[in-house]
Amino acid sequence: MDNRPIGFLDSGVGGLTVARELMRQLPHEEIVYIGDSARAPYGPRSAEQIRSFTWELVNFLLTKNVKMIVFACNTATAVAWEEVKEKLDIPVLGVILPGASAAIKATRNGKIGVLGTPMTIQSDIYRHKIQALSPETEIENLACPKFVPLVESNNYKSSLAKKVVYETLRPLVGKVDTLVLGCTHYPLLRPIIQNVMGQNVKLIDSGAECARDISVLLNYFEINRSRTAEPLKHTFYTTASPMAFREIAEDWLAMDLIVEHVTL
Ligand code: DGL
Repeated sequence: MDNRPIGFLDSGVGGLTVARELMRQLPHEEIVYIGDSARAPYGPRSAEQIRSFTWELVNFLLTKNVKMIVFACNTATAVAWEEVKEKLDIPVLGVILPGASAAIKATRNGKIGVLGTPMTIQSDIYRHKIQALSPETEIENLACPKFVPLVESNNYKSSLAKKVVYETLRPLVGKVDTLVLGCTHYPLLRPIIQNVMGQNVKLIDSGAECARDISVLLNYFEINRSRTAEPLKHTFYTTASPMAFREIAEDWLAMDLIVEHVTL
């Protein structure tokens, strides 16, 4: 047993899609979340900058005495996960491997699309991970640089969002039977993405897949939170406006939250 919280990091509100899955699958675990909305999006930035921002988020979470860190961000996972995981003595999980495995399991025709930020697509990491396990699989990568700003500005249900998603995804329609949402912000656009791609295309939410792996690791290391521990108190931190963060978070998580501002 270990009653310390699990730390989540993201460039902004995207990691809430992973946190929501964790709350659903493991309702007894406590969360400390940090979103770096002041510096989002990370996707168009250099690897060096993403690495340094990610370390700042990791070091902040370590001051909160977390028992595990979840990179609830594909971009940070693509750039810095290997390095951080080597250096820490607590488990560190990324969202890419769970998403890659789920996509392999889901595809019927061996044609998988991957949506991601410019950095995630440039790293080509999903192709590497998927083809390492399943070499015959074909990958269609597509960078979606306009999606994160739509979500961060709380416009993910707008008619602008519909237009942007339609225009961005058009080249992929009809080409794949499985589509990885390779950025944790994208599940907030899921209904629109599904509509554009067609109901037969299986969407893979890398964050949701990751929550299953968190559960496996908690069991493996025997660090589940005791059910008789103090009542849960999730804490959310943002580097930008707590009000803007809370609006999206309360809509997505359907609960009242305390959000605190933090300067890194
Ligand atoms: N949620 C982050 C991801 O999964 C978005 C990165 C960004 O800010 O561009 O990649």
